[in-house]
Amino acid sequence: MSVDLASFPKGGVAVVFGAGGGIGGALAAALRELDTFAHVAALSRSTTPAIDLLDEASLDRAARFAAAQGDLRLVIDATGFLHDAGQKPEKTWRQVDAGNLARSFALNATGPMLIMKHVLPLLPRSGKAVFATLSARVGSIGDNRLGGWYAYRASKAALNQFVRTAAVELARRAPEAICIALHPGTVATSLSAPFEASGLEVHTPEAAARHLLAVTDGLTAADNGGFFDWRGQPVPW
Ligand SMILES: NC(=O)c1ccc[n+]([C@@H]2O[C@H](COP(=O)([O-])OP(=O)(O)OC[C@H]3O[C@@H](n4cnc5c(N)ncnc54)[C@H](OP(=O)(O)O)[C@@H]3O)[C@@H](O)[C@H]2O)c1
Repeated sequence: MSVDLASFPKGGVAVVFGAGGGIGGALAAALRELDTFAHVAALSRSTTPAIDLLDEASLDRAARFAAAQGDLRLVIDATGFLHDAGQKPEKTWRQVDAGNLARSFALNATGPMLIMKHVLPLLPRSGKAVFATLSARVGSIGDNRLGGWYAYRASKAALNQFVRTAAVELARRAPEAICIALHPGTVATSLSAPFEASGLEVHTPEAAARHLLAVTDGLTAADNGGFFDWRGQPVPW
């Protein structure tokens, strides 16, 4: 599948927050191959400027750095946290830990909200502009049949509410702008590696990037505030 992002005005700026991650890295690489955008700003904890979800000033600096290069036409937040050596998804409420919950909310909900706080006011007031954050289908309340993964599920559900709320405010200031949550599918990255159940369709990061960019290409202002999967299908809240 080739994606040309022809629906976006040419010559603007595309930004990836979390470009050091599996999906974020593939998104930045795919965006650089297109001539739709004059600049691609790939931002991570190890770039200049660096971004840290736990440091609001770094998000403000990064947003202004990107906007100084031209009109922000496509901004994708590909950050996120599921597990590390000290924190695993909970299988039962017995494993719920206040510190781990706070950490997941800080990284999956508050951090992306602070990115929105600093990026959305910088989107152009006219012409197509998209802010998309990578959420997850397991953050869907309506689709929750398996249970477990308390911190990840609830922090992504909070992220979804932030997206919807910010989208309402964005529409008043920039009627053609679009703020959405995206489910990338199951993608082979270090985030998903310990949890890939057999039978699940698993995409490469490169394929996921193509899918997600194709979804952004098809968006119109009527999609503002939505939650879509990698096929462009709405996901229940
Ligand atoms: N992979 C899947 O199957 C899957 C499925 C559903 C949803 N998602 C979502 O897709 C998004 C990307 O996931 P991925 O699979 O690409 O995972 P990943 O490879 O682990 O990437 C996660 C990214 O988050 C960044 N990050 C973590 N903590 C940060 C912090 N404090 N400040 C700044 N950046 C921070 C990481 O930055 P560093 O590079 O600096 O570590 C990395 O770029 C996540 O939101 C995830 O929940 C993934």
